[in-house]
Amino acid sequence: MKIAIGADHGGYSLKEVVVPFLQTLGHEVVDVGCTCDQSVDYPDYALPVCDLVTSGKADRGILICGTGIGMSIAANKVRGIRCALVHDLFSAQATRDHNDTNVLALGERIIGPGVAQEIIRIWIETPFSKGERHVGRLNKVKQIEEKYAGQS
Ligand code: RB5
Repeated sequence: MKIAIGADHGGYSLKEVVVPFLQTLGHEVVDVGCTCDQSVDYPDYALPVCDLVTSGKADRGILICGTGIGMSIAANKVRGIRCALVHDLFSAQATRDHNDTNVLALGERIIGPGVAQEIIRIWIETPFSKGERHVGRLNKVKQIEEKYAGQS
């Protein structure tokens, strides 16, 4: 898979662990930054990752900040993005199976690198179930997105 990844200063250290981990798993990584632990703004890194995913230039995206909350809020504003903030293994599996999430948000200040790597492995490997009820619910989410598209 081609995976886009971005982090702010709060997620920089974990990103530096996750990038080689993804490469070890055989994935191609597009790293949009940040490039050091100097203070930056998380939306500036959420948007390029989401643009890569919605344009089809990346298959999935991973966003890391201190809590993962800011990144997930920003990502879910982008049309076509379904981003889940995940800090446990069950949610990593369920959010692919049920929600077909295309972006994963993680909080470096919440979990350690070992748990983060296992979450990422499960999230990448789990397919969407394509179950009728889940497809129907995602269509309803899409309708909400379309209803508010273009409104400020
Ligand atoms: C940065 O201090 C922190 O607010 C950010 O990394 C993130 O946790 C925001 O949600």
